[in-house]
Amino acid sequence: MSSTRRHVTILIIGSGIAGCTAALTLADAGRDVLLINAGPDLDDGNTPLAQGGIIYKAADTPRDAEARALEHDILVAGHRYNNNRAVRFLCRQGPDCVDNVLIERAGVDFDRNEDGTYNLTREGGHGAHRILHKADYSGRALMDGLAAQVKIHPRITCLHNHSAIDLLTTHHHAKNSQYRYSVTNRCLGAYVLNAETGEPETILADWTVLATGGVGQVFLHSTNAPGCVGAGISMAFRAGVELANLEFMQFHPTALYEERSYRRPLITEAMRGEGARLLDDRGDAFMLRHDKRGDLAPRDVVAQAMVEEMLRRGVPCLYLDVSGVKQDLPTRFPTVFNQCLEIGIDIRKEPIPVVPAAHYFCGGILTDTFGRTSMPGLYAIGECACTGLHGANRLASTSLLEAAVWGQSCGQHLARITASGREAIPRALAAAIPDWRHEGNEHHDDPALVAQDWANIRNTMWNYVGISRTASRLHRAFDDLRALSRHLHDFYKNTAISKPIVDLFHGCQAAYSITQSALRNPRSLGCHHRIN
Ligand code: SIN
Repeated sequence: MSSTRRHVTILIIGSGIAGCTAALTLADAGRDVLLINAGPDLDDGNTPLAQGGIIYKAADTPRDAEARALEHDILVAGHRYNNNRAVRFLCRQGPDCVDNVLIERAGVDFDRNEDGTYNLTREGGHGAHRILHKADYSGRALMDGLAAQVKIHPRITCLHNHSAIDLLTTHHHAKNSQYRYSVTNRCLGAYVLNAETGEPETILADWTVLATGGVGQVFLHSTNAPGCVGAGISMAFRAGVELANLEFMQFHPTALYEERSYRRPLITEAMRGEGARLLDDRGDAFMLRHDKRGDLAPRDVVAQAMVEEMLRRGVPCLYLDVSGVKQDLPTRFPTVFNQCLEIGIDIRKEPIPVVPAAHYFCGGILTDTFGRTSMPGLYAIGECACTGLHGANRLASTSLLEAAVWGQSCGQHLARITASGREAIPRALAAAIPDWRHEGNEHHDDPALVAQDWANIRNTMWNYVGISRTASRLHRAFDDLRALSRHLHDFYKNTAISKPIVDLFHGCQAAYSITQSALRNPRSLGCHHRIN
């Protein structure tokens, strides 16, 4: 078999907390795993950017009572649009998963108090201090712990600089009509672009797990890593896999505002949990005018209140006053402290200019508690999946926990069903899947053209499919993105495949699908805020 064609038992696409947890769970159970990701190392996604932390359990509260209290907070933040089964699953499995996978297996050393107990913090929408953190670089600490274990595991093969182009399925790819007409459309792996050689590769996989992360980069302002362009939902859509809740894009209230830059680093909500307050340009605290929970209202409420205030005052940003935070700022919030200092703001002396930015995708590929999708052979976990946990709006610090719990559950499930060692894809079917046909000989991936297409997508999504949506804005976005999608297909028809082109197609498809869902849902709820 050539190096551009291989057949593996388990292919995991994406290497954040979800992908790494699933890989380790499987490998520890004795299964061989191929883990691919688009970046040069494992940490190219959103996981290492997470600041706040991961939900654990409130101190001195009986386990059942704490699980019920957390369920309540998740349901309130999600406007009770949540999948109750997923909520219960997370609240019951969460603490053990954190203990077993993150603390014991990955060795993550969360911050402790002087008496040795965990230092638990709080964020918007939480009724208790129950969030574990490592200063304000919790995601980085988790990522480093997991990545170190993944890299040394003899049963995990990692391929970096490999971007998934499309899923392989029986109906779309088998050359043999016997398979094309079978009633079951099964996932058979993926076509993948090796960015080092520039060659597309065929990875046949008995079981494929999508852990491709978020989609925030289709919006002009986003806290997401550069690669978060919605690859998973885009490929799943093209393969005909069931998607859900795509209209629910969560905007984080506080990203750092820099006048001359589109960079929008996160300013963790844990700062408000520790006493910071939002102010307008005159120094007035405004959140209590919008919600009795004030600065600790759930994110959808705070982001929408901020947009209203910015429009009312005609200002491009608001301010986070951190003078009420009791801890030493450079020690407790070193990431925020340093990124502000880099642009000349000393947060010990002045408030932080902030704006809302696209942050977390509550929708995605519909899955059950094992990460199974509607397509046999295909699983999805982490941000690209929609378990229904978040409903219409995600509660802070649930995302890392969801990724770990579902990564573990998916890994355990796949370990069980692969125990017999039998191949799930018959040899004849594998042989019926052709390699990628590399016909293009034009070179249209001119960076100027690609940059302009991205600018169109991001401006359209921010202005028409952003924090507040109207029917006419959504119709404009729908028409514009449909036209762009057609144009991209015509224009790049004969262009040789490349990473910028793969990302552009994923981004355009993801933006179009989000817009379509937003247009179809006239009801304002949670982070889908329809003015009319
Ligand atoms: C934050 O630190 O505010 C982000 C954490 C999260 O998105 O849950």
